[in-house]
Formats: sequence, structure tokens, C-alpha cells
Amino acid sequence: MQNRKFLTVYFSWSGHTRKAAEKIAAVTEGRLFEITPEEPYSKLYHACLIRAKKEHDSDARPAFTGSIEEISQYSDIVIGYPVWWYTCPQIILSFLEKYDLAGKNVYLFNTHVHTGAVGTDDVKRVCRGNVHDSIVGNHLTEDSIREWLGL
Ligand SMILES: Cc1cc2nc3c(=O)[nH]c(=O)nc-3n(C[C@H](O)[C@H](O)[C@H](O)COP(=O)(O)O)c2cc1C
Repeated sequence: MQNRKFLTVYFSWSGHTRKAAEKIAAVTEGRLFEITPEEPYSKLYHACLIRAKKEHDSDARPAFTGSIEEISQYSDIVIGYPVWWYTCPQIILSFLEKYDLAGKNVYLFNTHVHTGAVGTDDVKRVCRGNVHDSIVGNHLTEDSIREWLGL
């Protein structure tokens, strides 16, 4: 991990992505930042599904709270999200448009039910970092995290 400083950023609706992100932050000995929507998503699955679809279809940028001080100090940014409508939630794009990740390694992971690793193309549309393809993060272990991130 010499000369590498990790920041793990995640959005999670029901906790799966959070669990993986916490594991990654521990293995990388880095900082963890949760993307928290200004307007929380309904805890009711169907209502959340409908809002997420509307946001997806309109290419929305939902607002989030909090901020990261001096993002320039991090060499490696890990970004995690649940798959929503076959890609990343729009709020991930909100984050990426707020912070310029040019020159940084950007590692993506997602948790999902059946879709697999998706969202990389949408991230690449707005992120100037060196974006690696998303991986499935449902069952990450310390060893698989180390191998993935080259630690
Ligand atoms: C709005 C919404 C849309 C979803 N769309 C998909 C999908 O397209 N493909 C998929 O495999 N899972 C989909 N899921 C399931 C989540 O990706 C999966 O349960 C994920 O692990 C949840 O992560 P979380 O607990 O961090 O929110 C969706 C869930 C929600 C709430």
C-alpha cells in the first residue's frame, strides 16, 4: 500500500453495499464516506423502485449531504453502489460530478440480485479518473479485496 491512500465512497439503500464498503475500508486502511441523499429514499421497496426509475429515465442528479475534505490527498477511490435498474443509482453520478477524480485510480463495485457487474459505462460518462470495470461485491473477502486492488 506504499504511497497509496484509499477513500471508499458508497451509497446503500438496504445495507448490503454498506457492509462491503466497510470491509474494503478496513482492508485498505482508508477513509469511508457514505453518500446520503438529501431526500431519503422510501423504505418501501415499490416506492423506491418507482422513484429510482424516474430518476434514471430523466438522468437526474439527486442531491446528497456532507462533503469530503481535500479529496486531492487520495490516490485511489473505491466507489460502491447497489444496482438500480441495471446500472448505478443516479446519485453516484451526482457524486462524480461534484468531485473531479482526474488522475486517480477509480475502482467500482456493486451489489446486485441478478444483473452482475454493471454501471461502468455510466460512470465513465462523467468521471475523468482511471476507471476500472465494476466488479460484483456481494461476497468480498479480505483476499479478494487485496487481489482486486493490487495490495
Ligand atoms: C430501486 C431498485 C432497483 C434495483 N434494480 C436492480 C437491478 O436492475 N438488478 C439487480 O440485480 N438488482 C436490482 N436491485 C436489487 C439491489 O441491487 C440489491 O438488492 C442490492 O444488493 C441492494 O444493495 P443495498 O442493500 O446496499 O441497497 C434493485 C433494488 C432497488 C431498491
